[in-house]
Amino acid sequence: MPERLVYWNGDFIPERSARVSVFDWALMYGDMLFEMTRTFKKKPFHLRKHLERLYDSLRYAEIDCGLSIDEMEAATFETIRKNEDRLEGLDFQIMHDVTRGSMPHYDTIVTEGQAPIVCIHVIPLVRHLGLMWERFRDGAHFVVPRQQSVPSRFLDPKAKNRSRLYYRVAELQAEHMDSGAMAVLTDEQGFLTEGTGNNFFIAKDGVIYTPKPHNILRGVSRYVCIEIARRLKVEVREADIEPYDVRQADEAWFTSTPYSMVPITRFDFYPVGDGKRGPLFQRLLDAWSEEVGISIDAQFKEYSELAKLWTP
Ligand SMILES: Cc1ncc(COP(=O)(O)O)c(C=O)c1O
Repeated sequence: MPERLVYWNGDFIPERSARVSVFDWALMYGDMLFEMTRTFKKKPFHLRKHLERLYDSLRYAEIDCGLSIDEMEAATFETIRKNEDRLEGLDFQIMHDVTRGSMPHYDTIVTEGQAPIVCIHVIPLVRHLGLMWERFRDGAHFVVPRQQSVPSRFLDPKAKNRSRLYYRVAELQAEHMDSGAMAVLTDEQGFLTEGTGNNFFIAKDGVIYTPKPHNILRGVSRYVCIEIARRLKVEVREADIEPYDVRQADEAWFTSTPYSMVPITRFDFYPVGDGKRGPLFQRLLDAWSEEVGISIDAQFKEYSELAKLWTP
């Protein structure tokens, strides 16, 4: 299989050569915005919504990436087209990364200039789904680590940025608490905010609750899940959720672009509800599958098998 090609400021380069300079703001400050979109049946799912969020993030960080949103969309389709025969006929992720470019201090070294770097790459979803497969099948364990969310008045998490050390620290703490556990962070009052790459939901007595959209990244999958629930006439409330509330919940799950929805069957070492994938979770996931025209359950299983062959 030939190497996939990465869009790099208008050129296409082999993915192994796609490297950001150590003199870039991205490495110096984590000064970089990004998006991840996925495909279903090889068609980008809500690409425009992801690009709108990318441009909101860029506006927040005052980066002019040099492309209009329409040009970014066209570059995305061009990247997909260039890679058509390199994606093994599989569904894939589409990453948009924008760095601020090289720091002025190093203009004698980085002589190609200090313009932002716009990078788009596509990779089959095999490893992502493979690494999440057991949690998707049996449910994830979520714990609340000491590391809290950065309040939006300090650094707004609504801008999808690569200054992510606090998410990583939360993941490491969760791993120390229970091997394989995932972190859900809290705000200064102790209300749940979000996971390190996902949005959090619980259900109780047929009503769905999800954290208010303040100190979180407003996930596109969160939006899709809420829309599906409302279409199915299930009430959804954006609410302050405390760890205590999860102990009383019937079900919990998270949403995130590569996986759509994953059940959470243990929370802080206790089972959620009866400790199994819940019926409301399954109803929403089935409706999601219907909307995108594939069985998300079946694809997860299939790609997790493929992932074993992909392991280096
Ligand atoms: C911190 C954080 N919250 C939530 C999400 C979920 O967002 P989406 O559904 O748009 O993938 C992500 C996705 O990467 C994330 O990084």
